[in-house]
Amino acid sequence: MKTANIQFHDLHATRDEFIDDVIQGLTQRPASIPPKYFYDAKGSRFFDAITELPEYYQTRTEIDILKRYAPDIAKQVGTGSLLVEPGGGSCAKVHILLEGLQPRAYVPMDISHDHLRIAAEELALAYPWLEIHAACTDYTKEMALPPTVPHGTHVAFFPGSSIGNFNPDDAINFLQSVAELLGSGGYLLIGVDLKKDRSILEAAYDDAAGVTAQFNLNLLERINRELKADFDLSRWEHKALYNESLGRIEMHLVSQLEQEVHINQKKFIFNQGETIHTENSYKYAVDEFINLAKKADFHSVRYWVDENHLFSVHLFRVA
Ligand code: AVJ
Repeated sequence: MKTANIQFHDLHATRDEFIDDVIQGLTQRPASIPPKYFYDAKGSRFFDAITELPEYYQTRTEIDILKRYAPDIAKQVGTGSLLVEPGGGSCAKVHILLEGLQPRAYVPMDISHDHLRIAAEELALAYPWLEIHAACTDYTKEMALPPTVPHGTHVAFFPGSSIGNFNPDDAINFLQSVAELLGSGGYLLIGVDLKKDRSILEAAYDDAAGVTAQFNLNLLERINRELKADFDLSRWEHKALYNESLGRIEMHLVSQLEQEVHINQKKFIFNQGETIHTENSYKYAVDEFINLAKKADFHSVRYWVDENHLFSVHLFRVA
């Protein structure tokens, strides 16, 4: 395999935080587990399947917007940039930008080591002219570029409305750390899911084929396997609802009866109807998001939405 144009960096502390986060989250009431743990190998495959569901409009709408406006984006940002993608473990959307943008180097950052390595190697084969510096890191905890990256205008690419997993205050903090990493004059190209009718949103997170339910339940299966827990998956049900006042989709796992679960010699009791909150996915109107980004020192350069007003892509610049 040709890997000459890739450098791989393990920036993430190897200490396993999974068990601590799960114990802590399940000790609290309401119970919760951070959504970043969805993405083991099986969870990543379920997520890929979600992106192809008829109800999950986000991925294809964002791809259409990026394809359509890639020349405008390239004209604004210029060639020879250093293109950084936090959470870019599958390198799935960046190819839309590469031909037009002609960046000097691409830096995908992701917590999922094998996923990142395989995708970066594939991308390197498809784009032999591109320098790739892959960084295995948890971007929710730390934001640092690998030491080997070349100079160039810093451009962060954060597609998929991943920003929606943060509550608004944490989103501002995260964007502040992106702004710091980019430096003044750096750009941020970010995909943000728009507020819309409850029925469209709830269908996107509770699809008819039940893939999102499997994705959600897989979290318990992963905990059973990796942390030797004894969740009985038949006693939990997927639930997705739009919390309109908070502007977010919430995903939960609902206990179908009173039950006990054991993890690491600890016992957790759940009542019937009690839930484990597994994900928030915040939705923003265009103006709301521009105002939020302003608090992190980003000013809006341009934004694009599809004709059905489902999804937005913003280009910001660090003030
Ligand atoms: C990857 C966080 C953007 O919130 O839409 C999809 C994850 N969860 N279906 C989203 C997800 C259930 C997704 N993000």
